[in-house]
Amino acid sequence: MWGANCDSWSEWQKHTSRHGFVTPSSILASRPALVQFPLHLSSDKRLQTLERMIYIACAMLNQQRFYIENFGCQMNVHDSEMLAALLQSHEWVQVSDYHEADVIILNTCSVREKAEQKVFSRFGVLKDQKVERPHVRFILAGCMAKAWGIKLLRRLPYLDLIIGPGMLAKIPEYLQYPSRRYPVVDTNEPESVFSLAPEMIANPQHHSAWVTIMEGCDNFCSYCVVPYVRGRERSRDGHEIAAEIVNLTRRGVREITLLGQNVNSYAGLPGGFPALLRKIHEIDGLMRIRFTTSHPKDMSDELVQTISELPKLCEYLHFPVQSGSTSILRKMRRGYTRDNYLNRIDTIRRLIPDVALSSDFIVGFPGESEQDHQDSVSLIESVGYDNIFIFNYCVRSGTRAADYPDDVPLQVKTKRLEDLLQRQRRIVMARNQEKIGMIVEVLVDGPAKRGVSLWTGRTRQNRVVNFSGTAAEGVLCSVLIESASPNCLYGRIV
Ligand code: SAM
Ligand code: SF4
Ligand code: F3S
Repeated sequence: MWGANCDSWSEWQKHTSRHGFVTPSSILASRPALVQFPLHLSSDKRLQTLERMIYIACAMLNQQRFYIENFGCQMNVHDSEMLAALLQSHEWVQVSDYHEADVIILNTCSVREKAEQKVFSRFGVLKDQKVERPHVRFILAGCMAKAWGIKLLRRLPYLDLIIGPGMLAKIPEYLQYPSRRYPVVDTNEPESVFSLAPEMIANPQHHSAWVTIMEGCDNFCSYCVVPYVRGRERSRDGHEIAAEIVNLTRRGVREITLLGQNVNSYAGLPGGFPALLRKIHEIDGLMRIRFTTSHPKDMSDELVQTISELPKLCEYLHFPVQSGSTSILRKMRRGYTRDNYLNRIDTIRRLIPDVALSSDFIVGFPGESEQDHQDSVSLIESVGYDNIFIFNYCVRSGTRAADYPDDVPLQVKTKRLEDLLQRQRRIVMARNQEKIGMIVEVLVDGPAKRGVSLWTGRTRQNRVVNFSGTAAEGVLCSVLIESASPNCLYGRIV
């Protein structure tokens, strides 16, 4: 079997021909290696061939195939990874083409209307599968399931299962039974901190991994649906987190990103988040530690000090402000003023001088005046972020802000969004140009998507660098920066 005895495509062919046949199990067992192996075929063609082989192998072994598509934040992406691993541990086989799947799962997001619209229009395409292959089952999982519940059946009557983010671990159980023999809707609260056990990801495919340290959110920002769909804040035991990371490093992971809606209020270890960072920092084999998201109201001096003292902690902080106007921040119930936020930035910059900062902004929140918008503009100019994510405000039913009139017209929201983006582009371009001539530490992600024989990786400040030279995935190298674009730096290994 590939992986056990063979380390190349031709070896594998020789091995299978020696045994006179290719068994379905040998195809399925060798799948990860086949996907990665650089055959002369294009990667699309390789995947097509592989999907075909898997399809035939599954049919011969009578094995069921699933397909997952993800919408939403990193926590959702990570949930999908864990769900895929869970289904695989129940002998299900993952496919990357929904035409070949027996079960199609969409893991959904409710944070903005657009995210929900994407899911509805995706089902517009997928629903034909029910006509062409009536045995196919549809699962709508995640935050939209929790937000909408049974009402989804009005718009998507062909769904077989609607399952909330806390109940994902029950999917294999429900799938044991024929369609309609299990509850159509399960949006209960999870019984434990995590419904999915992270250690199920037995073979991380990459040197970089996510680790969830907490679930839910207690902040109830007035615009946000997350506390309603993900439940109240729950921290995972610190020893369990450390054990998971030790396991990941043994399997080749070099960089981890700790995930939570507000990691600064982590409470799964005496001493909170700073104590967790210190504990994780001691793990051998780990090169870089990142985390997201930091809520400004909970960014203590002790935490900033801890980050500045631990060398594996990367100098990158996602520090969402949402607005530069104190009166809007108050209506958003963010728990800090513009001045509090800027004070935090001063402390961070004083203790971590080369830190890169990113932020989220919402434009057109109810009652946002031109002056409030100018406050956001001046905040962007004065902080000088390395990256920002900007969203048009969108009413979410059930939130406190849904009671305010959504009184900023769409054209004004869009104009303000474009205004912030333009200013940010100029800042980033100037910032990237400053890097020309510098030597930076890059953790290599793999071959670059564009550019023959170029590699791609990230600096400690999370900037993407494409570069030439001899490298390998998962190693640190020094790169001399030779040019810059708004999204990327270019250089060569020195
Ligand atoms: N917990 C993180 C925090 O506090 O910054 C972010 C969570 S949320 C999943 C990601 C971003 O979506 C938020 O920072 C906010 O900018 C944006 N967002 C949330 N609700 C929104 C809404 N109703 N309309 C527009 N943007 C929204
Ligand atoms: Fe939403 Fe606020 Fe919680 Fe972030 S901190 S998830 S914006 S309620
Ligand atoms: Fe994430 Fe969207 Fe849910 S942002 S927590 S997937 S509502």
